[in-house]
Amino acid sequence: MNDTTQELSSQESNGEIEDKVHDSIVAIQKKSSLAPRVGIILGSGLGDFTNHITQATSIPYCDIPFFPKLSAAGHAGELILGHFDQIPIVAMRGRSHLYEGHDPLWATYGVRVMKALGIDTLIVSNAAGGLNPRFAVGDVVLIDSHIDMMFRSGLTSNHSGIQVADMGIAQRLGKTYDESLIVATLKAAKESRIAISRGTYLATLGPTYETRAEYRAFRMLGADMVGMSTVPETILAAAMKLRVLAFSVITNVAAPDITTATSHDEVLVGAATAQAKLVTLLGNLFSQWSAPSA
Ligand code: HPA
Repeated sequence: MNDTTQELSSQESNGEIEDKVHDSIVAIQKKSSLAPRVGIILGSGLGDFTNHITQATSIPYCDIPFFPKLSAAGHAGELILGHFDQIPIVAMRGRSHLYEGHDPLWATYGVRVMKALGIDTLIVSNAAGGLNPRFAVGDVVLIDSHIDMMFRSGLTSNHSGIQVADMGIAQRLGKTYDESLIVATLKAAKESRIAISRGTYLATLGPTYETRAEYRAFRMLGADMVGMSTVPETILAAAMKLRVLAFSVITNVAAPDITTATSHDEVLVGAATAQAKLVTLLGNLFSQWSAPSA
């Protein structure tokens, strides 16, 4: 019998991955018959969003075969199915990171499971350091492009479960972030009187926060914020033809010329400030979708 806690690796065949995803969704569907339309991945310190999910069924990751277990502080590790503003959703409270030593196939497993549950849209959030000098702690920024300095998308594996030879993928990944969703979110933000910007997210492998020299270099590369997640998930999601919307919440200002180093506590406090904004913003966005004319 399969060990359901064993990590997926790039050695896995497409069929093996599909079988595991199938086992995962069978376990989930035993607990909830909801067919979610939208998947949400909640980053560091943003998990309280799940308090706003109604008729919720919460399933700890450890009760879902093959689902990655978490180790980073500030990540609870549960899947929540329910409704947010009448839209059926599935939320991942906590995610796996590549810096925990995981294979990209494993770190992005939740995206495959949510896709198999039926989502057509994925919303990803993360905590990030603000490189753009206009950003302040607590700001919410829409990711409209990224710089992948992880260099480990997971799609390069022969066994990624994705037909990389399908050139449509390369084209789709050039515009990973769905422009119509960005425009709708900017509109929702305006209506909710929440100031948001859009910008480029640079992903590093971590787990270390940047040196001052790195912050300066990343700014010169054109990045507006820096973090250690999201890109493996959004690349996989776009390759799987999901519509992708991604947010950073600015938890610390990565000013190259101040001498204090970034700490994980600072990141969690910054995320708490932004959490309320995110709930209002998504509430407004979702009510556009659930409105009769949508
Ligand atoms: N750097 C990398 N990851 C982060 C940061 C940062 O400054 N803040 C939150 N996540």
